Amino acid sequence: MNFTWGVSSSAYQVEGGWDADGKGPSIWDNFSHVPGNIKNGDTGDIACDSYNKVEEDVYLLRALGVKNYRFSLSWSRIFPSGRNNSINSHGIDYYNRLIDGLVANNITPIVTLYHWDLPQALQDIGGWESSALIDLFDSFADFCFQTFGDRVKFWITFNEPQVIAWAGYGAGTLPPNVNDPGSAPYRVAHILLKAHARVYHTYDDKYRASQGGVIALCPNIDWVEPKTPSDPRDIEAADRYLQFLVGWFTHPIFKNGDYPEVMKWKVGNRSELQNLPSSRLPVFTAEERDYIRGTADVFCFNSYTSKIVTHSTTRLRPFSYEYDQEVLTKVDSSWPSSAITGHRAVAWGLRRLLNWIKEEYGNPPIYIIENGVGIKTKSDVDDNTRIFYYKTYIDEALKAYKLDGVNLRGYNAWSFMDSFEWLNGYDPRFGLHQVDFDNPNRPRTPKRSAVYYAEIIRNNGIPLAHLCISIHALLRTEIVFHCVLQGNMVFA
Ligand code: NOJ
Repeated sequence: MNFTWGVSSSAYQVEGGWDADGKGPSIWDNFSHVPGNIKNGDTGDIACDSYNKVEEDVYLLRALGVKNYRFSLSWSRIFPSGRNNSINSHGIDYYNRLIDGLVANNITPIVTLYHWDLPQALQDIGGWESSALIDLFDSFADFCFQTFGDRVKFWITFNEPQVIAWAGYGAGTLPPNVNDPGSAPYRVAHILLKAHARVYHTYDDKYRASQGGVIALCPNIDWVEPKTPSDPRDIEAADRYLQFLVGWFTHPIFKNGDYPEVMKWKVGNRSELQNLPSSRLPVFTAEERDYIRGTADVFCFNSYTSKIVTHSTTRLRPFSYEYDQEVLTKVDSSWPSSAITGHRAVAWGLRRLLNWIKEEYGNPPIYIIENGVGIKTKSDVDDNTRIFYYKTYIDEALKAYKLDGVNLRGYNAWSFMDSFEWLNGYDPRFGLHQVDFDNPNRPRTPKRSAVYYAEIIRNNGIPLAHLCISIHALLRTEIVFHCVLQGNMVFA
């Protein structure tokens, strides 16, 4: 039985030490330093101060009983200028101490190479719009494999590539705040895919034989349900939504090296109607398709919520990746809301999503890398809402595994501790541990959800007794059935 339970975080959200010991600035450092950009004027300058708290963090992870810890490397902490001609040994020491601490406690490191904090020096040459980044990212990844790969056996290239491409270069809400909804996202995604494939091949060619790890990318996925399931146009719209969101990256990697047919068709057709000389969706050469196909060993993803989709006739102008999808999304107002707009708790969506991945990509090994709920409050140590979220989502994951035969290999909670929630600052809290951001020592306190999650890990799922005891609290007849019919809902 090799199911892995873990918690997740990312460098900019927890580390702090934004300019400590020779670290270079990232696009997030600079963005958060501009007043008005982040709620309450918050920044990641100190964050949870994890840069100075390796021992504390490892201790808490051990107390939780997690089998893995997923974190990311800050590129500009290792290469302050983004390039391998400037190497910051203090940054390397920090990650070595963290990795050694994890390994000493039998906690597998899952390491993301890029969780949004691009070195500013590389933004200055065009960021992910520049194909020079393919080589530069490869040289960073190569260095990381060489330096940490003796102990790190699970690598993620990009966290949420769709967010990088769309929020960073289309809507422009996240750094580098490029507002070009019609074509930059497609060009950026094209470069991200090539960079991902390049790094995969570097691992394959130079490190796999001696290090024996796995490597993947980690898309964000919301499950979507057609508004009228008897209307084929809504069913198609729901599929189209998923293809534009996820298939954009995973169709090339897990299928045929190329974008989903529906994306090629829609963007191509609309570009023609817009009198453009060619499609806004770039084209891969046959050689590139070959190079990209098959460049993930496992299927990782983040998921928080579900939506309802209808087909829609969207306008042709302004050119936009959003309009290209020809869908409209909404939510059901009866779904419990959370601190994040658009994040509602819809646990059953996770089971459907897992089944969709299984069917669409031929039953790959799947890892849920992020799942959790944000709550808007300063102190939520007594966090029953979060316990409810985890209980119901994990139960649905278990159903997908036990009843539907989904090849699920791991579940990670987002997040390890309260941390910098991007544009929202420290307001919405996702942590299993509370962090006191008013105290310079950033003390961590386990919430009730941490105690609960530790118990799930210890039991490797939700044992029968627990399910039944909580039934009146949950009021979900579906779960009663599983209690009666399936016995223990644990991974076995
Ligand atoms: C996904 C992102 O990867 C993570 O950084 C973020 O904090 C969570 N979503 C919650 O919004």
